[in-house]
Amino acid sequence: MGQLYEIEIATPYGGLGRYDHMALCAALRVDDPARVVVEQDGMSRALVTVYPSNPLAATPAPTDHDLTMDRKGRIVIGRYHNGRPVHLRLYDILTGSAQRIALFGTTGAGKSRSLQLILAALKRNGAVTWLADLKSGQSVPEAKGQVDWHATTQEEAFHMLRAAVAVAEERMRRYASLGRTAFLKDDPDPLLFVWIDEANRLLEKGAPYRDEATALVKELGRTGRSVGVGAGLAAQASHLEEMGGSDTLRGMLKEGEVILLRWSSGMMRQLVSDGLLPTGEQLQPIPKYLGVRTLRSRLDADADDDRPGTQGMAYHLTGEHPTAMLRFSRVGSIAPTPGLDPEIVELYGDGPVPALEATSVDLAGEQYAVRGTGVILPLYDDESGDGTSAPAPSGAASPGRSLRLPDRIIAALRNGPLDTYGVLEAVKTDGGKAVKPGSVRNALGDLKADGRITSDGGMHTLAD
Ligand SMILES: Nc1ncnc2c1ncn2[C@@H]1O[C@H](COP(=O)(O)OP(=O)(O)OP(=O)(O)O)[C@@H](O)[C@H]1O
Ligand SMILES: [Mg+2]
Repeated sequence: MGQLYEIEIATPYGGLGRYDHMALCAALRVDDPARVVVEQDGMSRALVTVYPSNPLAATPAPTDHDLTMDRKGRIVIGRYHNGRPVHLRLYDILTGSAQRIALFGTTGAGKSRSLQLILAALKRNGAVTWLADLKSGQSVPEAKGQVDWHATTQEEAFHMLRAAVAVAEERMRRYASLGRTAFLKDDPDPLLFVWIDEANRLLEKGAPYRDEATALVKELGRTGRSVGVGAGLAAQASHLEEMGGSDTLRGMLKEGEVILLRWSSGMMRQLVSDGLLPTGEQLQPIPKYLGVRTLRSRLDADADDDRPGTQGMAYHLTGEHPTAMLRFSRVGSIAPTPGLDPEIVELYGDGPVPALEATSVDLAGEQYAVRGTGVILPLYDDESGDGTSAPAPSGAASPGRSLRLPDRIIAALRNGPLDTYGVLEAVKTDGGKAVKPGSVRNALGDLKADGRITSDGGMHTLAD
């Protein structure tokens, strides 16, 4: 105890393949699997490090230096188990391209806190950030007022993606007319980043705007990169299919940055089969809690398992050490705070919020112009009319046997206001006929036009 051991071993060419980590720990007489770290070079060498205690148990807060982009366009987001800094590239100086970044992990793994670290760094480095926090703004509350555009609904996220594509296209035309091929680090235009937290809500099967939003994310990946428009998704996905289909992400992330926090079972297989993780590489799973579970008798009065959690532990799959476990720097307090967390607010610094270049403001559209006012403009031109222009989708209404869709929506709203996602979820589970997201959208439009509901800031409320 108290000492660190490093054991270098020769492996068959191509690596160990699957090995039993618990058996290795038992052979080394180590009870806490997090104290043993195995890294492979994918060829014929493996390094086994045995730590005296879990090396990632303590998490220091980020320093100002960590949050400042280095010469290569990178920030430091945390530390690997061996104490080395974990770099995340926001901008690639060599190719002049803004990055695409994905944070995956199961619920509570630390996606939103990790995102706050990145958002704070973006602000400090002069990047314009547009953020859609699709848990009604609850996931990253401190970001409000620290980003140029803060959206909390699917509708506004959709507007946001559209606006980002428009800005990217405008920059593309402008740069082409100047004979330039890439975005430059000292470009007069700022780096623009669009971030969607809870992106699965927007992109998963059955989500109201899935197809269109997926197309926009893809488009942004294509056009945004070379003109300084980056995109990031934080998502609780166990399957790439939940994220607009695996093509979208594969395309978006092949050269982007992928960070995997604690995952649920199916994810790993997917990442390997999708080529995001090299075949033969094995990641040691991230447990939910640190330390060793002690067996307790049911007669034991104190049966609570109060071991610290592993939130913020992750792998940077596209980084320098894809199979080395890391931990994000500490972002705010672990215990919930009443209201905003002052430590997180401080991370953003008190500098001004970087703003979009004046030449692109008009192209960002009307929703951008009214951002922050609670007004959400119709997504399609025909939605503002009498609600009859959209064709009623088949299967929505079934008079007689069950309630009509509008009445099912009204029933759902009797329990309180809901956003479109909430309405969709409610009617999906009310025991009635299956409905298409488009039908719900149209029915909401009709109810609004009839004055039976009001929609404000993306929330639908029964009219009184
Ligand atoms: N880097 C961090 N520093 C300090 N605390 C953290 C960090 N990451 C996570 N936590 C703790 O874990 C909790 C859950 O983290 P977070 O909300 O980021 O998870 P999430 O993956 O976004 O979960 P969900 O899917 O429910 O949105 C936080 O409330 C906080 O207590
Ligand atoms: Mg979250």
